[in-house]
Amino acid sequence: MAGRLVDALKRLEYRGYDSAGVATIHDGVMDRRRAEGKLFNLEKRLDAEPLPGMVGIAHTRWATHGIPNETNAHPHFVEGVAVVHNGIIENFSELRDELTEEGSVFETQTDTEVVAHLMAKYLREGLEPRAAMLKMLNRVTGAYALAVMLKADPGTIMAARSGPPLAVGYGRGEMFLGSDAIALSPFTNEITYLVDGDCAVINRDGVSVLDFTGKPVKRARQISQATAYVVDKGNHRHFMEKEIYEQPEVISHALSHYVDFAENTISTNAAAIDFKAASGLAISACGTAYLAGLVGKYWFERYARLPVEIDVASEFRYREMPLSPSQAALFISQSGETADTLASLRYCRENGLKIGAVVNVRESTIARESDAIFPIMAGPEIGVASTKAFTCQLAVLASLAIGAGKARGTVSADEERALVRHLAEMPRIMSRVLNLIQPQMESLSRELSKCKDVLYLGRGTSFPLAMEGALKLKEISYIHAEGYAAGELKHGPIALIDENMPVIVIAPFDRFFEKTVSNMQEVAARGGRIIFITDEAGAAASKLPTMATIILPVVDEIIAPMIFSLPIQLLAYHTAVFMGTDVDQPRNLAKSVTVE
Ligand code: F6R
Repeated sequence: MAGRLVDALKRLEYRGYDSAGVATIHDGVMDRRRAEGKLFNLEKRLDAEPLPGMVGIAHTRWATHGIPNETNAHPHFVEGVAVVHNGIIENFSELRDELTEEGSVFETQTDTEVVAHLMAKYLREGLEPRAAMLKMLNRVTGAYALAVMLKADPGTIMAARSGPPLAVGYGRGEMFLGSDAIALSPFTNEITYLVDGDCAVINRDGVSVLDFTGKPVKRARQISQATAYVVDKGNHRHFMEKEIYEQPEVISHALSHYVDFAENTISTNAAAIDFKAASGLAISACGTAYLAGLVGKYWFERYARLPVEIDVASEFRYREMPLSPSQAALFISQSGETADTLASLRYCRENGLKIGAVVNVRESTIARESDAIFPIMAGPEIGVASTKAFTCQLAVLASLAIGAGKARGTVSADEERALVRHLAEMPRIMSRVLNLIQPQMESLSRELSKCKDVLYLGRGTSFPLAMEGALKLKEISYIHAEGYAAGELKHGPIALIDENMPVIVIAPFDRFFEKTVSNMQEVAARGGRIIFITDEAGAAASKLPTMATIILPVVDEIIAPMIFSLPIQLLAYHTAVFMGTDVDQPRNLAKSVTVE
């Protein structure tokens, strides 16, 4: 059992990897093993001290409250109650004070421990397990996916969802519970997704789902498409490298979903979102997905003449911006589970907007709560730093923007054909560029790895790319980097320029080129070292001395952001490899962020 639980945890490492634990009940004994750090530490513990039992719960953690050490690792035990938890119990501090006053002794710094103490208290007071669970759920606020196991009732696991996802899996004479269907995929593909406000009581014969008042509710059982195979690195050193090199192939998949290559037309099949009637578009997302949305803003405004309101989801959800049902909304998320993005989606839903989801995981909560799903078809992305999901998001947004322009009459049939031809060329150009620039990226990364700060500059769609370049570099190499709109340089960041500060300028030979080159002059005049990422035309036009010039082929403006993503990804990747960081699982990060 413990081995199966650890197998399932391996599929959930994208949710966190700073500590892990497993607990089982066997012959009336409830026991646990926990370990700080990656899962293999827990595996080593289990090899040395195996855990028998046919019922158990397990967890891999991304610390919110309390440092990542063994004490704070889940499952938490209190008087025969074991708890694992994703999310944040927001009123934990007042509950902890109240429970401490009543005599409870807390062992950890986590918010989760209050759940175990509350359960223990209600059981002590004589409540049945189910009643204790419901009473506890009515006391805690915040975001949670919980699983509770009781020593006194070893045949049952109770679970609840309010925020982060939870899936129940059906086996033969056995039942499963997981944070998503992927965790359960080796065991079953028959799944019930719990919704917020569900409490599930599971034993080996089945599940009953209740609301938090104890009233039974019905939830559909479905066949999950999540695949059981474990993705490997192939010939690559890291998943990130593999995913960078997969881009030509996955972009083709993404495009073939949105483009009719025989007719050179866009077929977004997005009946649920009426871009023609829309008065505007609201876009929200986090991190790299947000930066893809920012590129999308330029496209929707340019090609579809559709005004776009865009914000990072953690701001969008609380801004109380006036929205109207005549607007459409797009949410971009690789995982489809990001808490802030989901909350922004729900805000738009309350305001009556039609919702589109640009997602990689089609069974995710964001996808399930949307009116139209726009899959990015990137396949599993394992590296924590997003690469192929970003360029696939861009390919889908470009297709949607052209499709919206066509619907709104701002893109003519001739323009559509021309744009689609450019999109169709993209996979081939990507392959060529990846081969072309690899050696130069590797040698340049040696220089970058010596730097403490790096500035990225760009204009137009190259401005979000500058921010994406900086984000990639900082998250995997831990070098401080910032992305700026090139025109903003003189309004502050220029004060940072000296001979130690590399400035990476992203400038295809487009309508912004001359302006960006003027900003490069300003950098050069102050002794700044320039890494110039441009195309053949740009390299010929600029005579400025640079530390390095990376020359890409000349491509149309619509595909430039995807092509110019490649050098910034490779530069970050090789710098991180050179510095010896944990490229696929950089410190402090998680692939899917289900807390706000
Ligand atoms: C950066 C990165 C993150 C994610 C962000 C949103 O490389 O991967 O910034 O883009 O956490 O995640 P999703 O797309 O799953 O909503």
